[in-house]
Amino acid sequence: MDTQSLKILRAWFKKNAAELPWRPIDLDAPRDPYAVWISETMLQQTQVSTVRDYFVKWMKRFPNVATLAKASEEEVFKYWQGLGYYSRARNILKTAKLIAESGTQKNGTPKNGTQNFPQTRKELEALPGIGAYTAGAILSLANHQREAILDGNLVRIFSRLYALDFLPTDKSSAGKNPSEIYWNYAREMADSPKAYMHNEALMELGRTVCKVRNPECSACPLRAACRAAQEDRTAAFPPAKKHVQKDWHGTVLVIESMDHKILAVHGGQKFFKNQFTLPHFESPRDATAGLPAQAEKYIDADAVQSVESAGKFRHSITIHKMECDVLHIQLNVKAPTRKIPDTRWVSRKDTANFFANSFSLKALEKIH
Ligand code: ADE
Repeated sequence: MDTQSLKILRAWFKKNAAELPWRPIDLDAPRDPYAVWISETMLQQTQVSTVRDYFVKWMKRFPNVATLAKASEEEVFKYWQGLGYYSRARNILKTAKLIAESGTQKNGTPKNGTQNFPQTRKELEALPGIGAYTAGAILSLANHQREAILDGNLVRIFSRLYALDFLPTDKSSAGKNPSEIYWNYAREMADSPKAYMHNEALMELGRTVCKVRNPECSACPLRAACRAAQEDRTAAFPPAKKHVQKDWHGTVLVIESMDHKILAVHGGQKFFKNQFTLPHFESPRDATAGLPAQAEKYIDADAVQSVESAGKFRHSITIHKMECDVLHIQLNVKAPTRKIPDTRWVSRKDTANFFANSFSLKALEKIH
């Protein structure tokens, strides 16, 4: 992108940047990498308006890596409750522990958590839950390094700016690597001492102006450089996602006893024949609510306190692209103590260790 457009972009951001709890008033001030990590991870699947309060409460309770590393998973989940995608919270805690351990000096006293935050993309991306985007955000926004980011906002902006009729997730073909093309544009934005501002300004622009629907091109600082706007074709970019074939739709049962144990079964299931899994079966999309007949293989209908739809998740196994509904069935009885072959009642807190497949863990995440 030409230097004039970048200058206009920065001026637009300085004038229009929303006040957000993770954003200092001085937009040129380096930030605490810990705070950037937490806020950007929260923002990955959740809107800014929701994240605000969660972030403020989180930072009060866990102001730095050292405090967080000492917290229990249970408490961390409490502060995450409502943000969804709980694997993010689990990974944050794992990573905090790794960073805190790496910072313990030989005599056992912890170093300052901030000083100790990894400073390279390679080190950051090796940590649980930190991918290319989060690593780039931490290094650029906190440390002012010339590191690129690519999130949904930037993809949409680049697609429109350069009239790219493909997505970074499309398959490579004929020597063209879609992901690399997008990342190269992202790197070009970050090839500047102002990388931090270009990155954040683009995210803000995507959120407030270059929106998915009805972009406000008349208010856009990059309008003169934008091919889609010039050609009045913003609605054509980015192209719609190609429909993914979901060849299996099913229901996964999270059956929970009054003493918070979850039923696991071994065998007799469509997937995972040789390990414990949550009970599951093929079902039509949007099946009617209520207790499915399949559940009565395991439990007595009279013992059912409630049946609640807990959401959906996607999962791939070999050639199967699956989409699964999760049903949370709560019982009004305790888990039976006598052992029934091929079934186990697993304490809710032990499920992460017990289940070896992410299929079951993804379903369990929905019921926190
Ligand atoms: N979306 C995710 N991170 C953001 C940030 N730092 N600024 C604006 N929008 C964002």
